[in-house]
Amino acid sequence: MVAVNNLHLTALCICLVLLISIFEAKETVRKPPHVVFILADDYGWNDVGYHGSEIRTPNLDKLSSLGVRLENYYVQPLCTPSRNQLMTGRYQIHTGMQHQIIWPCQPYCVPLEEKLLPQLMREAGYSTHMVGKWHLGMYKKDCLPTRRGFDSYFGYLTGSEDYFTHHRCSPVPPQNVTRCALDLRDGEEVATGHTGHYSTHLFTQRVASIIEKQDPQKPLFLYVALQSVHAPLQVPEQYVEPYSFIADHHRRRYAGMVSAMDEAVGNITQALRDRGLWDNTVLVFSTDNGGQTLAGGNNWPLRGRKWSLWEGGVRGVGFVASPLLARPGTVSRELIHISDWLPTLVSLAGGSTNGTRPLDGFNMWNTISKGTSSPRLELLHNIDPLYDDIAQCPGRESRLTLAPELSQGQWSHSGFNVSVHAAIRYKSWKLLTGYPGCDYWFPPPPLSNSSEASKPPPLTSVMLFNIESDPEEKEEVSEKHPKLVDFLLTRLQHYQKASKPIVFPDNDPRCDPGPSGAWGPWE
Ligand SMILES: *[C@@H]1O[C@H](CO)[C@@H](O)[C@H](O)[C@H]1NC(C)=O
Ligand SMILES: *[C@@H]1O[C@H](CO)[C@@H](O)[C@H](O)[C@H]1NC(C)=O
Ligand SMILES: *[C@@H]1O[C@H](CO)[C@@H](O)[C@H](O)[C@H]1NC(C)=O
Ligand SMILES: *[C@@H]1O[C@H](CO)[C@@H](O)[C@H](O)[C@H]1NC(C)=O
Ligand SMILES: *[C@@H]1O[C@H](CO)[C@@H](O)[C@H](O)[C@H]1NC(C)=O
Repeated sequence: MVAVNNLHLTALCICLVLLISIFEAKETVRKPPHVVFILADDYGWNDVGYHGSEIRTPNLDKLSSLGVRLENYYVQPLCTPSRNQLMTGRYQIHTGMQHQIIWPCQPYCVPLEEKLLPQLMREAGYSTHMVGKWHLGMYKKDCLPTRRGFDSYFGYLTGSEDYFTHHRCSPVPPQNVTRCALDLRDGEEVATGHTGHYSTHLFTQRVASIIEKQDPQKPLFLYVALQSVHAPLQVPEQYVEPYSFIADHHRRRYAGMVSAMDEAVGNITQALRDRGLWDNTVLVFSTDNGGQTLAGGNNWPLRGRKWSLWEGGVRGVGFVASPLLARPGTVSRELIHISDWLPTLVSLAGGSTNGTRPLDGFNMWNTISKGTSSPRLELLHNIDPLYDDIAQCPGRESRLTLAPELSQGQWSHSGFNVSVHAAIRYKSWKLLTGYPGCDYWFPPPPLSNSSEASKPPPLTSVMLFNIESDPEEKEEVSEKHPKLVDFLLTRLQHYQKASKPIVFPDNDPRCDPGPSGAWGPWE
């Protein structure tokens, strides 16, 4: 008996030792992860290998195949709006930025009372670094990335520029003369001496040097907002050579730009491995909006493109790669939106969203990592009463003009003005009102004579689609579901009543950098 008791005691001791070591292991796992967020610019649905593109993206394919591909993931249809929601976790209607992008001479930025993602990560103990495109306003110094939570910044402040000279050309009031000037900064200082250096290489080198210098004991938040693959269509020739089989000139150059970006993502993950950070890293890859078909991008078979609220404008390429995922190698079809990253990443960091305005985003970590159902049932794509599609869309007006009896008519009791450009998603349903933007299906160039591209059905001011069963938005079903339409219009009206007035100021003549200056704060 005594011997058995001793045996029991020994077993108990071993158990305790095991428990303690498991507890300790858990403690090491709970060290806050490094967070690397790579945002691509104007990267379309049909431009990634794993969606069947003719463009080759071996790094994105492999990384995402070992991670979680987000296939029901939404972004905003434009650069500034998506970046705004990523940084604030809030819809544009709540920041007054529901209309358009910030042009170089407009005196506004994301409202300074908004607490941004890097500020929250910094409060959670992270080093915070940003490389690439800002596009969230820069008319005064308080708007700059280094004043909004980033320890360091290297990149450009406006929305687009030459990839090699880093010069941006834009009209300057009062004469509207076109001014071309440098837009590249290191911290708050103008960065010279990088002429001729392709931005995808330049930014990747900076990212690698940040990673090399990172103290592995301190968590890193790194926001990489690549210039790739926004217009202008520029890339070193060697990246275009493998695409001689693509006849369309724009598409071929664009394909080369995508390859350079894919290589950049490969280099960034390699740098994380080399520094020994990868095992505790969460890497997010996301586009900022759908592809621009006028500049090489493609969203086939989705409808529409950048600037529109069709799926081709807002359904984004995105994935998460990380050794910390509970179910790696899976595909998520849960509804996720770019505004969800702020609460998701801050929670992963063990931080707090204390100090933010009421968030529209949800914490999606369990949804992404474990495959639990998304807490998000509804998604406001946008409401913009001033909407104008500035890009050419042959045969379409920039606004929907309807006979009065057809426009408000049967939908008047919701109170929502259905001539206003808006869209809302609820579960599988999507309601669009007003003119949603260019509505063609743009096939990739080899198919560009397909009949569907040439015969879009007529638009109406209220359109309902079941996105789960009809992601291509081919079958408009509002007549079959009048109660659902009423409900969604009521939701739009609810959001419209709570929206901030649109901020979209006139150009300020003081923005002019002069013949030898650089774009940057003027106030
Ligand atoms: C400047 O150009 C824009 C667009 O071409 C035009 O809308 C605006 O009226 C012009 N402003 C002046 C002062 O000429
Ligand atoms: C990736 O790294 C390789 C090897 O250092 C380099 O030749 C290439 O230019 C890098 N690519 C990018 C996009 O930075
Ligand atoms: C939230 O922030 C406020 C102001 O900075 C502070 O007074 C409060 O203690 C914070 N609350 C929590 C739960 O951290
Ligand atoms: C409804 O919205 C359209 C487009 O924004 C606008 O032109 C029109 O004046 C609005 N109608 C009413 C009654 O507010
Ligand atoms: C598309 O059709 C037009 C007219 O039939 C023809 O001229 C053009 O070459 C075709 N384009 C392609 C890419 O096949």
